[in-house]
Amino acid sequence: MPPQNIATLSLGEGKKTIELPVLSGNEGPDVVDIRSLYAQSGLFTYDPGFVSTASCKSAITFIDGDKGILLYRGYPIEQLATRCDFMEVSYLLLNGELPTPDQKAQFVSSIRSHTMLHEQLIKFLSGFRRDAHPMAVMVGVVGALSAFYHDAMDVSDAQHREQSIFRLIAKLPTITAIAYKYNIGQPFIYPRNDLDFTENFLHMMFATPAEKYTPNPVIVKALDRILILHADHEQNASTSTVRLAGSSGANPFACISAGITCLWGPAHGGANEACLNMLEQIGDVSRINEYIARAKDKNDPFRLMGFGHRVYKNFDPRATLMRETCHEVLDELGLHNDRLFKLALELERIALEDDYFIEKKLYPNVDFYSGIVQRALGIPTSMFTAIFATARTVGWVAQWNEMISDPEQKIGRPRQLYVGAPRRDVPK
Ligand code: CMC
Repeated sequence: MPPQNIATLSLGEGKKTIELPVLSGNEGPDVVDIRSLYAQSGLFTYDPGFVSTASCKSAITFIDGDKGILLYRGYPIEQLATRCDFMEVSYLLLNGELPTPDQKAQFVSSIRSHTMLHEQLIKFLSGFRRDAHPMAVMVGVVGALSAFYHDAMDVSDAQHREQSIFRLIAKLPTITAIAYKYNIGQPFIYPRNDLDFTENFLHMMFATPAEKYTPNPVIVKALDRILILHADHEQNASTSTVRLAGSSGANPFACISAGITCLWGPAHGGANEACLNMLEQIGDVSRINEYIARAKDKNDPFRLMGFGHRVYKNFDPRATLMRETCHEVLDELGLHNDRLFKLALELERIALEDDYFIEKKLYPNVDFYSGIVQRALGIPTSMFTAIFATARTVGWVAQWNEMISDPEQKIGRPRQLYVGAPRRDVPK
């Protein structure tokens, strides 16, 4: 990536001028390479929330938030969501190309050979309270995988990393499903490797020893699409967390557990759950205006969950696809007249016409619709973010692997603007 241009930074009258290389990627804005800034000037940059900072270079996902573009490895999300399944998209994110039929078969078989959990790990679950939030269970159990796979812990070994990647992708649905079963007091359902990835996930969630689960193809397609749309999203908060954790050489299970922790927050992956809870709180179409007014009130911390995005300022392309799936699922299951679904669709209509939301470019995001779809699929609200985590694991491991393989990789160590007490002495 040779510098195309030079940015000249003037430090003020009579002070020195610094030249910094400007790097160009294949898409998106150029970046000023400030790595030599401190050495040249003694200055740091200040960018809380990283609104103007490229934290790494990456060849995995590209977003143009103004144009509503999302590409995985160069392919538009609209094409991937309608022409590929989650396993193909996972292969693409990890390897850079879509698989041939043979490559896909090989990849699926590698994942399948890791779907079961060690029986000791299953026992670990009984230490949790029955009412534990599934994300709390996920954070603990995924981190605990580190204690089971001493055979592949050398992060500098590409084969060890691949082994851990297969394990994580394969075991996340199993862990998500057992977190659910534990919560509702049902026996855990073992994976069935004759089913495809998404069918098996539904089977582990909804089958019981007493009753087989026969998945409706519309539901399988809807969940597969949720997984594709949530698989990666560039350097978002949880992915950056995984990269930062991994930059110290921490093992992949610990890193993914850190990503799950970050994803849980309501401003990130927790939004789908928060959105459904908000709909319950609103309760009735007649109260929508009251809540819209609260969302607009600067003195009220209430926000309309499932609306707005740090990067997408016109529309979220994933939301467009999820909206389509939402209507397909509601039609298939005859749920258009359900109280909460009617409320959600009316809230969408009113917010989209409201000046405040138009002016601030606040549109429904993917989690607004994915929450509605998951509820229609019979997935309890508290599981929504865990399903997001299952999908995002693919992106996290792809980004983690890319980072470790990068010869320029260094431990992440931001600096700060110190605003505390200046040096002082403890009284004698
Ligand atoms: N409801 C009401 N007002 C909002 C909302 C909202 N959902 N989102 C942003 N605003 C207002 C905010 O008050 C601020 O107003 P002002 O300029 O007057 O101070 C302005 O819009 C900009 O907000 P911001 O917090 O500076 O924007 P951000 O880019 O830092 O935040 C966000 C993005 C997603 C955290 C935020 O829009 C939000 O909290 N949305 C609700 C939570 C949500 O749905 N999150 C899921 C994101 S999609 C899933 C994912 O990718 O993780």
